[in-house]
Amino acid sequence: MHILLLIITLLLFCFMIFIYLNLFYSFYLKVPMLSSGSGAIENFLQNIDFGKAKNFYELGSGSGKMISKVASRYPDLKCIGVEYNIAAYCSAKFRNLFLKQKIDYKLGDFFKINISDADIIYVYLFPGLMVRLEAKFSQELRKGTIVISNSFPIKTRKPKMIIQEKAGALGTLYVYEY
Ligand SMILES: C[S@@+](CC[C@H](N)C(=O)[O-])C[C@H]1O[C@@H](n2cnc3c(N)ncnc32)[C@H](O)[C@@H]1O
Repeated sequence: MHILLLIITLLLFCFMIFIYLNLFYSFYLKVPMLSSGSGAIENFLQNIDFGKAKNFYELGSGSGKMISKVASRYPDLKCIGVEYNIAAYCSAKFRNLFLKQKIDYKLGDFFKINISDADIIYVYLFPGLMVRLEAKFSQELRKGTIVISNSFPIKTRKPKMIIQEKAGALGTLYVYEY
């Protein structure tokens, strides 16, 4: 009985830490840890041509829901997920203990990593971050790199394609070619 109570207390404690960390990072990074919806993921997989792509990046990979779907569909693709929130990063690593996919999860700030070898990039962030990221994309990305932004467009660029989510504006995919 005592052991059971101890286990429940420990689980509750871990859960509280998880919630606290997510709240902290949501305020600090100015974007909450929300996963892409299944509709958006399905639209992404159906409409984005991976052709000869070798390197796929998800900037702000959260719990790994999206990138793990891409890795299952394209097992030879090099998938790199970058995440700052340690709680989200740990849940992605935990998910991967079961899925055993070849995903390179990096813990850190995506503004500080070099993404010039990217062929395809996926983001689901907020408008303020998109402005800063556009500057990084314009500086670092090679010609032909495809960027897909879920829900929030890059205001200063014309999308090559818009994939509308039936449910409303959230989940719409904006596709850009650099
Ligand atoms: C709305 S969530 C999207 C999660 C995932 N991309 C998905 O679509 O399911 C945005 C994620 O970006 C992460 N993030 C925000 N700014 C970041 C930064 N500068 N470096 C790394 N990760 C960041 C947040 O911690 C959060 O997990």
